[in-house]
Amino acid sequence: MTYDTGTRTGIDIDALRARIPALRAGVAHFDGPGGTQTPTPVVEAITHALSNPLSVRGSVAPGEINAETIVRDFRLAMADLLGAETAGIVVGRSATQLTYDFSRVLARGWAPGDEVIVSRLDHDANIRPWVQAAGQAGAVVRWADFDPATGELPVTSIGALLTDRTRLVTVTAASNLIGTRPDVTAIADLVHRAGALLYVDGVHLAAHAFVDVTALGADFFVCSPYKFFGPHHGVLAASPGLLETLRPDKLAPSTDAVPERFELGTLPYEALAGTRAAVDFLADLAPDTPDTPGTAQDRRTRLRSAFAAIEVHETALRERAEEAMSQLDGVTQHSRAALRTPTLLLTFDNHEATDAYHFLARSRIHAPAGSFYALEASRHLGLGTAGGLRVGLSPYNNADDIERLTAALSAFLRS
Ligand SMILES: Cc1ncc(COP(=O)(O)O)c(C=O)c1O
Repeated sequence: MTYDTGTRTGIDIDALRARIPALRAGVAHFDGPGGTQTPTPVVEAITHALSNPLSVRGSVAPGEINAETIVRDFRLAMADLLGAETAGIVVGRSATQLTYDFSRVLARGWAPGDEVIVSRLDHDANIRPWVQAAGQAGAVVRWADFDPATGELPVTSIGALLTDRTRLVTVTAASNLIGTRPDVTAIADLVHRAGALLYVDGVHLAAHAFVDVTALGADFFVCSPYKFFGPHHGVLAASPGLLETLRPDKLAPSTDAVPERFELGTLPYEALAGTRAAVDFLADLAPDTPDTPGTAQDRRTRLRSAFAAIEVHETALRERAEEAMSQLDGVTQHSRAALRTPTLLLTFDNHEATDAYHFLARSRIHAPAGSFYALEASRHLGLGTAGGLRVGLSPYNNADDIERLTAALSAFLRS
């Protein structure tokens, strides 16, 4: 399946699927927001890292040089993916761990009466660490609410909470529950005018859109490569200058250089090799451009074009899925924001979402049910802790997946 993007050819979805061995098992995967299936080049990069000499980073033995090269190439790749500086790319075990670490180090500069703004649209990973850190510092937490009817988080909902005591605002770049993409650039503008910092959860967005951390105005941007074809770890991007101002706890012999200052212990070299391969895999999705010798495009340019094509494909599939769901009786769709990722949240008039999840699994369709740790958002939508059935689209989903989902859900609703 190929979508034509106008001036160029779109992504060849069949070729993309052929490079992801897990898809051969025949399961229709709608669990991309929980983690994507892994392409062969990523598997091979991990194997390659572990099949060759690999030692603690250094410049003498082959294994040391291999580790050093892997870390350098990883930072270059993530800098290309996010539009960041290599010296501002921090490795973590997960986005949650990085956010906890940064909440503790940032909170050291907070005094009683300072204020922190969190949003109810966010995954708990970008709420609870800040609430707990604020509690320990005696800082006040202010909650920005989204509109449950539209799914929108208006810029004004944050703007109205800013005061001269605001030290930090945290917001998601895209909701992992209902896909809403707030206007982060406009939020950043207000936050910076108030003299505060902005911490952006880009975990869900980075799988679906071309990211430019500078254009977004994110002082901190966290994401997780396992959501965009890579292995399971987290990455944080910030300007090296800002990182220099922060003093995390660290071991005495470990380097104080940025970004290593924030990376506790030995890095997961094989995972970093996998993430570099995932970024290259994404860049390789860039539709073919005219074959002019000597005009090889750089990776960031190819990433921009790849994500433009991914958005065309995912939007077309999302519209198809939403149209199909709207034809089914008794289905409520909660993903309604004007700008959103291809992530549908469904509930059913006379059935539990968790029953749908189990029913679909018996037809080899994986669309899990829950709140997906976006607990505040689920409650604010009136869905309590149960949440709904999440149908998350990824670049490898195709029309056949949507047809299987629609037929199986239709059978479920009749059951
Ligand atoms: C929007 C969002 N933020 C944060 C997280 C947590 O990421 P990690 O598993 O890397 O801690 C997730 C995971 O699903 C997420 O979707």
